[in-house]
Amino acid sequence: MAQSDLAVIILAAGKGTRMKSKRHKVLHPLGGRPMLHHLMDALAELAPSRKVIVVGAGKEQVAESVGDEAEIVTQEPQLGTGHAVQVTADRLRGFSGDVLILYGDVPLLSTATLRALIAARRGAKKPAVVVLGFEPKDAKAYGRLVVSDRGTLEAIVEHKDASAVEKAIGLCNSGIMAVDGGVLFDLLDQLDDNNAAGEFYLTDIVGIARRQGLECAVALADEREVMGINSRSELAGAEAVFQDMRRRQFMDDGVTLLDPSSVYFSHDTKIGRDVVIEPHVFFGPGVEIEDDVTIKAFCHFEGAIVRTGASVGPYARLRPKADVGQKAKIGNFVEVKKSRIEPGAKVSHLSYIGDAVIGADANIGAGTITCNYDGFNKSLTEIGEGAFIGSNTALVAPVKVGAGAIVGAGSVVTREVSADALAVTRASQKEIGGWAAAFRSKQKKK
Ligand code: UD1
Ligand code: MG
Repeated sequence: MAQSDLAVIILAAGKGTRMKSKRHKVLHPLGGRPMLHHLMDALAELAPSRKVIVVGAGKEQVAESVGDEAEIVTQEPQLGTGHAVQVTADRLRGFSGDVLILYGDVPLLSTATLRALIAARRGAKKPAVVVLGFEPKDAKAYGRLVVSDRGTLEAIVEHKDASAVEKAIGLCNSGIMAVDGGVLFDLLDQLDDNNAAGEFYLTDIVGIARRQGLECAVALADEREVMGINSRSELAGAEAVFQDMRRRQFMDDGVTLLDPSSVYFSHDTKIGRDVVIEPHVFFGPGVEIEDDVTIKAFCHFEGAIVRTGASVGPYARLRPKADVGQKAKIGNFVEVKKSRIEPGAKVSHLSYIGDAVIGADANIGAGTITCNYDGFNKSLTEIGEGAFIGSNTALVAPVKVGAGAIVGAGSVVTREVSADALAVTRASQKEIGGWAAAFRSKQKKK
């Protein structure tokens, strides 16, 4: 149920020039999911009644990506973070609950951290503004949080405007804050752009609130959660943090990773217990791995499901709608697309299986190819339970091989093979006795 006492503003009107991209910065992905959607996911459990995203250039891209999940407000021109919140006034002035202000390019915030921030705002002293602070190894150009001896927040000083003493403060502004909606727009009305950047700083609402005698406070966050993304290298840094979080989570949940740092997960990867994953495995979106599966080194997955007890790889590629059944085996250099491999079936070496159903316990010999595409249409190959397909067979779809049938190696199968029959389509072998020896002696004489 939506929480009528909580609204969220996500600032995303910055130009993002350092990304050097046609794509809006907040739509660049982490673990295959746009940053903005990571934030929306973190918010989902808090169920805010209002979500307003402030955008400038690239508004259409953001609007298309969020659909009716949030309201979009335009900030044009962009006169600073304070101004960005001001432009939401038509939507949110008069809202008396808590207003959470987030940055679209700070996507790794956890729900727990956001809850703690809101809890601090609702704490005993009901501070008007609670700022999420952090203590980075390198304070760089972050705004500094000026805290009194009694631990309350007195002001935020931007790096550009800070004195040497203020620059020595290690406690930094993440930019994220929770504000009493009852006072937010009154505080914003008092902002000016009389500072080093000539911008309306959101951070100035703290000093203004203090001068009015309102309490302000700091909540603390882990540096990794509040990292901001402005460039491709920061995007890669955030991806590394995201992957690290996913790897730890999977290991905590009972997955063995032999070399965690070489395995890449998607935001939606699902993995059961007692799964062993060898080095260098990549999970694209939409993959589910059930219990007791072994994934050998160098595999690539996308949109696939691998069921209990199956084994995949090394060097296998499972593409969308690959469904590997219980205890089935997909071996080295095998590609599977839109195919159901039923329980216990084996495709052990060097095959392409596309648009196919491989029956339970069938054995697909090395080098077997389903010829599923004629340049215009995709067609189905159906192999019955317990069938045996000899090595280097081409199955020209649409085609069926009945249960228990055997196809001789090197066959090109174009017509249905009956259950329990033998089908061989290759030319029969000829032999001319002594021909090779005669050929050699003739050549030597030349
Ligand atoms: C801001 C904070 C700084 C903090 C830092 C954390 C201010 C004045 N400073 O600085 O204290 O340490 O973030 O990363 O707030 N945006 C708009 N419209 C604007 C300007 C910015 O929507 O007119 C958005 C940006 O898209 C971005 C966010 O606000 O999502 C922060 O803007 P940015 O310019 O990166 O602020 P910083 O200078 O980094
Ligand atoms: Mg910034």
